[in-house]
Amino acid sequence: MTLVDALSVIPVGGPSLPQERRLVTAIPGPKSQELSRRKSEAVSAGVGVTLPAYIVAAGGGVLVDVDGNSLIDLGSGIAVTGIGNSAPEVVAAVAAQLAQFTHTCFTVTPYDSYIEVAETLNRITPGDHAKRSALFNSGAEAVENAVKIARHYTGKQAVVAFDHAYHGRTTLTMGLTAKNLPYKNGFGPFAAEIYRAPTSYPYRDAGLDGVGAAKRAIAQIEKQIGADNLAALIIEPIQGEGGFIVPAPGFLPTLVDWCRANRVVFIADEVQTGFARTGDLFASNHEGIVPDIMVLAKGIAGGLPLSAVTGRAEIMDAPQVGGIGGTYGGNPLACAAALATMHSYETENLALRAREIGAILTGRLNAIRTVDKRVGDVRGRGAMIAIEMVDPVTGDPDAALTGRVVAAAHAQGVVLLTCGTYGNVIRFLPPLSIPDDLLVEGLQVLGSVLAAA
Ligand SMILES: Cc1ncc(COP(=O)(O)O)c(C=O)c1O
Repeated sequence: MTLVDALSVIPVGGPSLPQERRLVTAIPGPKSQELSRRKSEAVSAGVGVTLPAYIVAAGGGVLVDVDGNSLIDLGSGIAVTGIGNSAPEVVAAVAAQLAQFTHTCFTVTPYDSYIEVAETLNRITPGDHAKRSALFNSGAEAVENAVKIARHYTGKQAVVAFDHAYHGRTTLTMGLTAKNLPYKNGFGPFAAEIYRAPTSYPYRDAGLDGVGAAKRAIAQIEKQIGADNLAALIIEPIQGEGGFIVPAPGFLPTLVDWCRANRVVFIADEVQTGFARTGDLFASNHEGIVPDIMVLAKGIAGGLPLSAVTGRAEIMDAPQVGGIGGTYGGNPLACAAALATMHSYETENLALRAREIGAILTGRLNAIRTVDKRVGDVRGRGAMIAIEMVDPVTGDPDAALTGRVVAAAHAQGVVLLTCGTYGNVIRFLPPLSIPDDLLVEGLQVLGSVLAAA
């Protein structure tokens, strides 16, 4: 088949794709299997694949693979395509920018869309104080820069991250990330002056409330590090890879108050929770906290690689000129996509859509939980919901069951992701553009594969 022939049978992505689950081969089909063979010959084995169905088009709530299967997307490429895949407004904005210029490097000869992204972030993030932003490429790169800026501002070095945290896979962020396998094993030594504190994990905390959990963390920090040495505390307002752990009410505000009183920079890592995902524009808003610095990525630019650090002006302005930046950070195509994406979040009230999706998810998942005690917990906010799979007698995490259920859902054409320190959490992160009936069908598949597992 020539390239032209091949392209003529590949559907165009975006919301006009038929919104249906359609299986025409086994998953993965023969063409995907052939691509998997090529992958193992060409791509580093360290780059894993959750579901080896190779995608040729996506939009609304479906992913269409090279064999013609149409899969229900309950993952959004790990919380990225919040406004949908190939969203028309993003496609138009990027196409227009593509025809103008693709790159100059903002730190060499700048352009206005970078400034407009920064202005938008400064406006929409929590707090009405003066803010500044800087743009990068990935979540981990933004986390690294947030830590650099906090250290420069405070003149202190230590950084506290929490149990079950995930902040990335670069050398600094691996140290912040809690879980060894697969993220850290064999990749040490890690950066110095990183410390870990206990978090609030209501399902496994046996009655400890949020304020109590914060006091426990603060006592440990004061005893083992000392506020005089601590530059920053970094935390995900809802922990993502760690298992969609929503801390008990009061945990985050108590930590913020302690940071303020001790000249410690409070960094909220909203890489996964940001941009309407949790039913508000940012998860920090649910508890009314105002972080000193926010780290943003994933949902910011409709699938194009962009990340940001947004924070108090006096903190963000502390580093010397040239200390912050990089060749591609705030690339013009990514900025055009971000402006279109952020406009949609605001004008289409996608936070409300996330809450509607959350109501469907929690309603259906709680109904499953009442009849199947292997579902130990249903938790999360908005369109960021998870179930924790356990042994119904002991409450111990059941990673094997989790793996069986997810594999069976994949075979039925439903893209599901796992997470959790113990590998026993199934997470639901559908695009906010998914139609209700497709979401419900995905959950019906989950219910039937779980019953059979
Ligand atoms: C909370 C959080 N921080 C940081 C990262 C790292 O982002 P990236 O994979 O873009 O480097 C992630 C990625 O999943 C994340 O969920």
